[in-house]
Amino acid sequence: MTDKLIIRRPDDWHVHLRDGAMLKDVVNYTARQFGRAIVMPNLSPPVTTIKAGRAYRDRILAALDPSLDFTPLITCYLTDTIEAEEVVRGHTEGVFTACKLYPANATTNSAHGVTNIKNISSVLEAMQKSGMPLLVHGEVTHSDVDIFDREAVFIDEVLIGVIADYPELKIVFEHITTQDAADFVNESDSNIAATITPHHLDFNRNAIFQGGIRPHYYCLPIAKREKHRLALRKAATSGSPKFFLGTDTAPHAIGAKESACGCAGIFNAPHAMESYAKTFDEEGALDQLEGFASEHGPKFYGLPINEGKITLERRKTIVPESLKVIDTEIIPFHAGETLEWGIS
Ligand code: NCD
Ligand code: ZN
Repeated sequence: MTDKLIIRRPDDWHVHLRDGAMLKDVVNYTARQFGRAIVMPNLSPPVTTIKAGRAYRDRILAALDPSLDFTPLITCYLTDTIEAEEVVRGHTEGVFTACKLYPANATTNSAHGVTNIKNISSVLEAMQKSGMPLLVHGEVTHSDVDIFDREAVFIDEVLIGVIADYPELKIVFEHITTQDAADFVNESDSNIAATITPHHLDFNRNAIFQGGIRPHYYCLPIAKREKHRLALRKAATSGSPKFFLGTDTAPHAIGAKESACGCAGIFNAPHAMESYAKTFDEEGALDQLEGFASEHGPKFYGLPINEGKITLERRKTIVPESLKVIDTEIIPFHAGETLEWGIS
């Protein structure tokens, strides 16, 4: 039995760091675990210009514990009216690592998202040319589509068309939640990859309704049925370079979650690696964790692998019931549970 695992320092290819006081209180949870992170631009207002991207990066760096070695990678939020020139110049100048596509109203702060993919055709054309990755929140938002089908319908109605029109465009299908998405990515060319969260590997949709409504298990895309969770576990632990780590850590104050209209998002940053280690251990695939967490992402993005290493050990880690953030609390993923792995 493996009790100790030394791997290259991992990266998180999908995080929500927020802004202001919340940013200050959450950023170091991510920076303690990861060398770099792809930072989501769904602020209010969203990050849609080079100027806003630079300023946000500066605010993240200012909030960082100076003893931590962490690089935030900024993304640009695509809107119906964004200019291709701004996006590509932001990439060339090293401000934007990628662009994020939120279908309008798909999730938290996505009201400015794209209403029709045709509206951003010149942007996608330019991104394809410059090798800039497109990160997609893969859900359609039409009211007549069942919430549990949104991801599968997105593949048919949007993604297949985008790939046909821009066959060389690098695309990350983010936080996939279905067997349909895992199969689709597996069968696509090498320019199509996906991130997988620790929570979608850990629980299925029953958790949201266990004995009552459980807002801390609610996130978007919503967790699906068990067969999908099993397909995600298979994909993540398969060793395929198409799948890599992206936590989608998304902090919301306790009052915003435990509400008549609770926000979507799970705050998993504090024990993300311990949670992934649990899944890989349960699957008998600890030897695949380094590829998933530390190698496949940089390879896809064309970035170097981190120099440093981290050590994961089989020892009990108690996750707090709640964490103090700003003047309130956040309930973290695995709250009150004991995990079998710890980082030293
Ligand atoms: C995210 C958030 O709160 O910003 N919420 C979530 O459930 N994942 C937005 C997102 O990535 O969909
Ligand atoms: Zn997200």
